[in-house]
Amino acid sequence: METPSTREHWGTRMGFILAAVGSAVGLGNIWRFPFQVSEQGGSSFLIIYLAFIIAIGLPAMLVEFTIGRRSKRNPINAFKKLGHGKWSFVGVICVITGFVILSYYSVVAGWTLQYTAGSITGGYFDDPAAYFGAISEGWVALGLHALFMAVVIGIVAMGIEKGIEICVKLLVPAIILLLLMLMFYGLTLDGAMEGVEYYLAPDLEVLSESWLEILPAAAGQAFFTLSLGMGAMITYSSYLAKDDDLVADSGWIVGLDTGIAVLVGLVIFPVLFAVGIDPGEGGPGSLFIGLGGAIAEAPGSNILGLVFFGTVLIAAVSSAISILEVVVSYVIDNFEVNRLPATLGVGSLIFLVGIPTAFSQTTLTFYDGVVADLLLPLGMALLVVFVGWFYTDARDELAKGLNIAPTSWFPNAWMWHVRTVILAAVVLALVLNAIGAYETFIELLTAGEAADVADHVHDTAIDLIEEP
Ligand code: PFF
Repeated sequence: METPSTREHWGTRMGFILAAVGSAVGLGNIWRFPFQVSEQGGSSFLIIYLAFIIAIGLPAMLVEFTIGRRSKRNPINAFKKLGHGKWSFVGVICVITGFVILSYYSVVAGWTLQYTAGSITGGYFDDPAAYFGAISEGWVALGLHALFMAVVIGIVAMGIEKGIEICVKLLVPAIILLLLMLMFYGLTLDGAMEGVEYYLAPDLEVLSESWLEILPAAAGQAFFTLSLGMGAMITYSSYLAKDDDLVADSGWIVGLDTGIAVLVGLVIFPVLFAVGIDPGEGGPGSLFIGLGGAIAEAPGSNILGLVFFGTVLIAAVSSAISILEVVVSYVIDNFEVNRLPATLGVGSLIFLVGIPTAFSQTTLTFYDGVVADLLLPLGMALLVVFVGWFYTDARDELAKGLNIAPTSWFPNAWMWHVRTVILAAVVLALVLNAIGAYETFIELLTAGEAADVADHVHDTAIDLIEEP
C-alpha cells in the first residue's frame, strides 16, 4: 500500500492545469459536442450549454478539487480520509463510471485512428458513409479499440510526472494550435458563413419552446466535457503538492475547454455548410460521415483530413489517460501492486467491457446515454450533497490558495451556491434525463430493438468465446 510520502505528484502547477485541460478537451468537444448541437437545435443548445458551464460547471469543478486536494486520495479512499467512510460508495460509482466511459470512448477513438490513416490514403474520400459502416462495427473496430487502449496503457504506466505530465505538455498546445489553423481554413471557404449563422445566431423561438429538452442534454454534455461526476478531477487534484489557487486553476481549465468546444463548432459547421452537407440529425457517425464527406470535397483533402483527425486523436489520448488514471490510482493505493501491472490489468478489463460497443453502434449509443445522462449527473449530485452537508471544511480548502479567511464571504457564497443552485440544477437534469431514458427504453422495447441489442451483445459474446 502506498503511503502519502511516496505518493506521486505533479512536477509543476502548469503540469496540473494542462493535464486537467487535456482531460477535459477530448472527444466530448470534437465528436460529442457537434452532434449534440445538431440534434438539439443549433444555437439554442449552445446558449443553454454556455450558461450551464458558467453557473454550474465551474463551481462544481471546485467541489471535486476541494475533495481531491484535501484528501490526497483516489475517489474511493478520499471519503474515508475526510472522515466519512460510509460515502465510499460514491467513489465506487465513480470507478464504475470510469470503466464504462473509457470502454466505448476507446472505440470511438479507434475510428479516429482509422480516419487519420484513411486521410493519407484517401480511403474514405469516395464514399464516406460506406467507409464508416465498414470500420465502425466489427473486427476492424475491435482491432482499433485494442490499439488505442494499448497506447493509453503505455502512457499511464509511465506515471504521473514522466508519463501524463510530459505527454499533456506537448499535446494540449498542439490541439489548440491545430484547431485555430483549421478554423481559419474553414472560415475562408465559400458559403462558410451560413454555418456560422446556424451555429451562433440565437433562435429565441426554439429556445423558449424546447428549453426543457435542451437543458438535460446540455447538463450531460457539460459534465462529460469538463470530466465531472466521476472523480477524474478528484484524482488529478489529489496529486497537487502545494496549495495553489484552485479558483484560478478551474477558471483556466473551464475557460480553455469551453473556448475549444466553441472553436470546434467554428471549424465543423462552416466546413459542412460550405460543401452543402446538412448537419442533419447527428448521431455518433455524424462527425465521421459528415465531416469526412466535407473534407473529401474540400481542397487539400489529404492534409486537411490528416490535421483534423490527428487533432481529434491527440485530444482523445489526453482525455483517455485521465479516465484510466482514476481506476489505476485506486488499485495502486489499495493493493500491493505497482503501477505497471495495475495499469495493464485495469486497461485489459476496460478493453473487454468495450467489446460489445465495437460490434454495435446501438450498444455504443446506449453506453454513452447511460454515462452522460445518468451516471455523471448522479455522481455529481452525490458529490454536491457530500460537500454541501458533510464535508463543509471544503470552504477552508477553497480559501487556502486564495489567502483569505475560510469565514470570509467568498467560500460561504460558494457553499451556498453548491447547496442550492447546483444541487437544484443537477437534480433537475437527472430527473429529466431519467424520464427521457425511460421513454426511450419503452420506445425501443415496443419497437423490439431492445431485444435486438440484447441479442447482439449475446451473439457477440458467444462468437468471441467460440473463436477467440
Ligand atoms: N472530458 C472528456 C471529453 O470531453 O472527451 C471525457 C471525459 C474524460 C469524461 C474524463 C469524464 C472523465 F472523467
